[in-house]
Amino acid sequence: HIGPAEDRLHRPLKDLRISVMDRCNFRCPYCMPDSIYHEGFSFLKSDERLSFDEIERLARLAAELGVTKLRLTGGEPLLRPNLPELVERLASIPGIEDIALTTNGMLLARQASALHAAGLHRVSVSLDSLDPAVFAHMSGGRGDLQTVLDGIEAARAVGFPRGVKINTVVQRDVNDVGVPDLLAHFRHTDVIVRLIEYMDVGSRNGWDRADVVTSREMMTRIEALWPLYAVSPAYRGEVAARYRYVDGGGEIGFISSVSAPFCGSCSRARLSSDGQLFTCLFATKGTDLRATLRDAGHGGDDEPLRQALAGIWHRRTDRYSEERQERRSRAEAPHGNRAGEKIEMHYIGG
Ligand code: GTP
Ligand code: 5AD
Ligand code: SF4
Ligand code: SF4
Repeated sequence: HIGPAEDRLHRPLKDLRISVMDRCNFRCPYCMPDSIYHEGFSFLKSDERLSFDEIERLARLAAELGVTKLRLTGGEPLLRPNLPELVERLASIPGIEDIALTTNGMLLARQASALHAAGLHRVSVSLDSLDPAVFAHMSGGRGDLQTVLDGIEAARAVGFPRGVKINTVVQRDVNDVGVPDLLAHFRHTDVIVRLIEYMDVGSRNGWDRADVVTSREMMTRIEALWPLYAVSPAYRGEVAARYRYVDGGGEIGFISSVSAPFCGSCSRARLSSDGQLFTCLFATKGTDLRATLRDAGHGGDDEPLRQALAGIWHRRTDRYSEERQERRSRAEAPHGNRAGEKIEMHYIGG
């Protein structure tokens, strides 16, 4: 047993985001553009993905190193068969206090109750627009808006103990003008909408800074309709800045990953579905833990894995978003892919 891990910048490891499925049933143009992720694209084979046993084992060791929060992501995690079984196993790990799920909501209505029963604490549904045409565009023509709204409703109805949130990625001239409609729909409910600045994740979405609408700009537009006041973070290192509507309409969050990076308190590690561990959303390279896991064998010695995990975190220096910001303020060119291709979001979750 080795106890809590800290990285080179004294950031603890608190949060493990586990991608359980690289596939997705959507083709959001900013994440999995259809032109690349077509019929012939080769996704992982199922024996290349970590099994539930393997995920559970890693999560247990991560908990020993200080992880208290787990988030299941994808691609689309609800495409992974028997996900509630994994939730149940993870919920029983000592030290794990919070288990969340990020989903596009298409398959949520039929699974909400099993996930709740398995011990899932909360759900974040990605939803970019309530305008059917914009929604269709932003899901790559694969999603059905009403099905997603039904999924959100089902999740509210089963009553996840820590609630339901909506994540909305805002892109200029794509969905930004529809944001007030989306907010109006969820005002006066217990569903919290969080507006996310469009980020330069991956290398396949053709990101352009001009497409980013900053939180400040969104806030100005929203305050013209409904004034807001700031509330304090729910926990140290919270990614979203929290606000409430003055008129009692409830809470809204702003995630300013581009304009106000939050690397200083970043305590997140990300595990891909084939067992690579990444210490930053913008990493170009991960560490293969699957080989170590499979070498150790079922019921084998945990020590090599424990050492590998702790070593990766101890060596961590990532602060990509802050560096991007610093280069920008010195008017330097972004370093783009000089160091190799960045990982893609569908492979590592959000
Ligand atoms: P809670 O506050 O616990 O609900 O978690 P969270 O804010 O981490 O939630 P979520 O996973 O829903 O994150 C929402 C979005 O914030 C993600 O989809 C990303 O776009 C962005 N985000 C989350 N974590 C990071 C991070 O470590 N770095 C950057 N740059 N963006 C992040
Ligand atoms: N910028 C910001 N958020 C993104 N997401 C996917 N790609 C991006 C991006 N380029 C969001 C999804 C989802 C979460 C997993 O990450 O919309 O809410
Ligand atoms: Fe869209 Fe999320 Fe699927 Fe990416 S993983 S294509 S953001 S639904
Ligand atoms: Fe963490 Fe990397 Fe995001 Fe910074 S850019 S907050 S280090 S994941």
